[in-house]
Amino acid sequence: MKVSPLLAAAVASFAFSLPAAAVDADAALKLTKDSGCTKCHAVDKDKKGPAYKKTAAKYKGKADGEAKVTDILTKSPKVKMDDGSEEEHKAVATKDPAQVKNLVQWILAQ
Ligand code: HEC
Repeated sequence: MKVSPLLAAAVASFAFSLPAAAVDADAALKLTKDSGCTKCHAVDKDKKGPAYKKTAAKYKGKADGEAKVTDILTKSPKVKMDDGSEEEHKAVATKDPAQVKNLVQWILAQ
């Protein structure tokens, strides 16, 4: 079937205007507890790592923001601790991409 470019554009803009799927905050919080993130991060105060609110402010609305945060949570990059030493960042305790995505979106919504 041939789709007219006009129709395709209309469908695309409709898809863009849909609200993002609701974030499951309870599941995100549980995952941060299960993964030990709470030891170093809190929503609105810095611990060993920055507050999620700061992270959200830094990445929200950036085209690659979600991808960057996902990499930090899944690829264990080296990060600087508050005492200046470098450590591999802790990865989330799940391999389920949907759960990781939910957590990333929750962090970016803080
Ligand atoms: C041992 C302490 C520690 C643990 C555990 C830890 N983090 Fe981190 N996290 C850090 C540090 C330190 C940084 C790097 C901050 C920087 O580069 O300025 C960081 C960076 C991040 C960033 C990027 C922040 C930014 O603004 O760029 C995110 C998002 C994040 N952590 C989320 C998590 C999540 C989710 C978990 C649980 C899976 C977790 N962290 C576990 C210490 C920790």
